[in-house]
Amino acid sequence: MKAIIEPFKIKMVEPIRFTTQEERTELLRAAHYNPFLLNAADVMIDLLTDSGTSAMSAAQWGAMMVADESYAGGRSFFRFEDVVRRITGLKHIIPTHQGRAAERILFAILGGAGKVVPSNNHFDTTRANIEFTHADALDLVIDEGRDPAAIHPFKGNLDIGKLEEAIGRVGAENIPVGMLTVTNNTGGGQPVSMENIRAVSETLHRHGIPFFLDACRFAENAWFIQKREPGYADRTPHEIAEEMFSYCDGATFSGKKDGLSNIGGFLAMNDDALAEQSRNMLILTEGFPTYGGMAARDLEALAVGIEEALEQRYLDYRHAVVEYFARKITAAGVRIVEPPGGHAVYIDARAFLPHVPIEEYPGQALVCALYETGGVRGVEIGSAMFGKRDPESGAESYSAMDLVRLAIPRRVYTQSHVDYLAEVVLETFARRHSIRGMRITRQAPLLRHFTAQFEPVP
Ligand SMILES: Cc1ncc(COP(=O)(O)O)c(C=O)c1O
Repeated sequence: MKAIIEPFKIKMVEPIRFTTQEERTELLRAAHYNPFLLNAADVMIDLLTDSGTSAMSAAQWGAMMVADESYAGGRSFFRFEDVVRRITGLKHIIPTHQGRAAERILFAILGGAGKVVPSNNHFDTTRANIEFTHADALDLVIDEGRDPAAIHPFKGNLDIGKLEEAIGRVGAENIPVGMLTVTNNTGGGQPVSMENIRAVSETLHRHGIPFFLDACRFAENAWFIQKREPGYADRTPHEIAEEMFSYCDGATFSGKKDGLSNIGGFLAMNDDALAEQSRNMLILTEGFPTYGGMAARDLEALAVGIEEALEQRYLDYRHAVVEYFARKITAAGVRIVEPPGGHAVYIDARAFLPHVPIEEYPGQALVCALYETGGVRGVEIGSAMFGKRDPESGAESYSAMDLVRLAIPRRVYTQSHVDYLAEVVLETFARRHSIRGMRITRQAPLLRHFTAQFEPVP
């Protein structure tokens, strides 16, 4: 059979509240044109994020019921540790309540003024946690990764030449760690090849610099390697993931993506001294090292979810959904980051709204228009997220791309939801010339996109 079907049956459902366009126009105004400030109950298809929004399996719910909620040394921790260690091969597995908690601990220890942390692209929380320590976060993705239209099988790859240049310029002693985000969320959910993981590892290690993976979407990255990289077609996603981790010295992980859980994460590494410092910090800010800010039931859900995320049929179905949606809208002329990434479709907002200048946040304008048209919530990944206002001069900086990310929650929506979604995008495309740009009326100094307020430019 050619049809790729959802590899599960649905046992529990959650009703969707339907809204009218008039209601949504008013709700958007009340939310200051920032969909983060909408009530989820007012959203019909919520594609704000694939993070923490997965539907859990019966096996996960079952495991949660038998969790051992002991404060110290609980059975659930050892189950979690065993699963993570088998896949990553890393020595120290430190649970955290989510990915950014792992980043916070890591960079509180390794960061600081004068330090530089290179990556393909840092995710926004990673960048913020690095910059919070006054270190610099450096994005070194290959040039194709910055061009939405460029076709490349591994647009998440890091440019080794740029890495060598950066090491030469700032000095290896000022680079406490180098990273790779797999898949590269900020750059469009694009995968990193095994060849590139190996090359980054070799380059960093030659200069005595440790190498960490931001492994949030490691299973989706493994699937891309299986499908696109010569020599991996006959390897299982599990085997490929093991090889990916074999090149690194540590990892930060948000279990809210390829952990198929609603909360959780970990920080893992081989270095004993770094692990000791991390655990001390963990106790200060998260909890005891055998639960680290999670309930034991969350550790159980994660232990089961991480394995389920590596199942071949699940990964085939997951990528078929993203591809199906992408092809429906590109066939009608909508430009997206090509080829579509693992967890989301990224619409090129500058191409969608060519009449909206970069200074008027075309991504934010599009994200609002999609909500107004059909109650679909996406997220701007562009100048509202990554641009900055200089606190002294008030001058604004803008990002290289203005994208709208429509992230697909795992195991949540069916094919008819995706058909509706495509209809909303195409309806918005048809009326694109009436969509106005936005300006910021209020913003926080860090991670401003979560709470910023906007208004349409008259
Ligand atoms: C690549 C990447 N790294 C880190 C994080 C942070 O994880 P969390 O939201 O669990 O703090 C995210 C979240 O979306 C992410 O996509």
